[in-house]
Amino acid sequence: MLPVSVSVTADPAFVVGPVRPRTFGSFVEHLGRCVYTGIHDPGHPTADADGFRGDVVDLVRELGVTTVRYPGGNFVSGYRWEDGVGPVDQRPRRLDLAWHSIEPNLVGVDEFMRWCAKAGVEPMMAINLGTRGVEEALALLEYCNAPAGTAWADARKANAAADPYKVTMWCLGNEMDGPWQTGHKTALEYGRLAAETARVMRQLDPGLELVVCGSSSRSMPTFGAWEHTVLTEAYDQVDLVSAHAYYYEEDGDLTSFLASSVDMDRFVDDVAATADAVRAAGKHSKRIHISFDEWNVWYQRRAESRLPSGDDWPVAPVLLEDRYNVADAVVVGNLLISLLRHTDRVHAASLAQLVNVIAPIMTEPGGRAWRQTTFHPFALTARHAAGEVLRLAVHAPQQETERFGEVPVLDAVATHDPETGDVVLFAVNRSLTEPVALDVDLRGFPGLRVVEAVTLANPDHTWSATADDATSVLPRPNTTAAVADGRAAAQLPPVSWSMLRLARV
Ligand code: AHR
Repeated sequence: MLPVSVSVTADPAFVVGPVRPRTFGSFVEHLGRCVYTGIHDPGHPTADADGFRGDVVDLVRELGVTTVRYPGGNFVSGYRWEDGVGPVDQRPRRLDLAWHSIEPNLVGVDEFMRWCAKAGVEPMMAINLGTRGVEEALALLEYCNAPAGTAWADARKANAAADPYKVTMWCLGNEMDGPWQTGHKTALEYGRLAAETARVMRQLDPGLELVVCGSSSRSMPTFGAWEHTVLTEAYDQVDLVSAHAYYYEEDGDLTSFLASSVDMDRFVDDVAATADAVRAAGKHSKRIHISFDEWNVWYQRRAESRLPSGDDWPVAPVLLEDRYNVADAVVVGNLLISLLRHTDRVHAASLAQLVNVIAPIMTEPGGRAWRQTTFHPFALTARHAAGEVLRLAVHAPQQETERFGEVPVLDAVATHDPETGDVVLFAVNRSLTEPVALDVDLRGFPGLRVVEAVTLANPDHTWSATADDATSVLPRPNTTAAVADGRAAAQLPPVSWSMLRLARV
């Protein structure tokens, strides 16, 4: 089969912005088995004194996750954070209406902070603006960030930690436009509450970075108008607006699915344009950035995502445990390309979620942990993207998609580290059938050589990892990659994600 020719030009002058470590965040919600039997499993042979699994912490470190959003998600909108502090055996069991489950409160804010320290990640806390409000948000902030000497700070000292946790990133509620959200609100109701909560939170701690809820999806009828109203109310009080996107799934139209990042590109552009319109109308000088704090492939219609019902209120049920295949991993890699390409506006992002629940890491209760296919493009991008993000000039044939119209057959982004001179190219071949013959003009970076080239692909793109076989399909060395006369060349198979690392050697 004749490959499709794609030419790409990279130049050190085409800088979008810095590679931001917070682009590689993730999310731990009290949902299904994410916390219980996911990160927390006291009976597990690798568990520490808090009951946290050491094997999972090792995988989280290998994944390269930087921030972890907690404790929800939909869960947070009915959560009383006070239930999760103090002696574990005295904590109440509560109904969790969001996921029709029982929350045993064995893990709360103090345990989570210790887990973050162990995993080497920055906590990103979400507050409940569904059933609760300003007072409870202030109490939690005092508990986390105030020095000892007042009631909640002293409670933290007595329970767990003399020193404040100094949590910088806070989400002002979760998906507050969603009718499924406990205590959901109109844009005006929420915008006023978020603005006032943010204002007083800053009185307690001026150094906070605050994320206001954008619309819960680009497909919501409220999308756009919601962001406009909320930001009109809260512009001066917040730093970022959230974006959530999950409607990426292979529903029989693989060609459209492989172009999912086109939707993410448009999503970011739409939110940025709306925020800038509010900026212009309000004569504000600062810019609002985007926290893409829930994104992933999610097969919402599958049985795995059906909630318990009736009198069935389980603790940590199997929920949203999608098994990801090779095509899913290619799309996840491509969504990361999109997030990097928008590093000027996307200042934080969270792959939702981290363990068991639509996650790159899976566990057996008390048993094995393994990497899903989606683990690999995330880990490699988080480890090797460095320095500045470069916009590339890509000349690629277009392919027709049902959902997004014509899209280029190849999508790519590159990073350049001005200190080392290293260039890393991330690329996706979206064709179902044709290999791509990639030609990259690197004349702006003299002396580069290939130090590593890997490709994730498989003749059967439906292959998924299991506990018994998580390694048959991995990113493999791409032996076709080479540099000659200032040009890099590589063959990229159909339905593939690749990384090409170039350095002066
Ligand atoms: O990540 C799963 C759920 O998806 C989250 O709880 C919610 O915020 C979103 O709708």
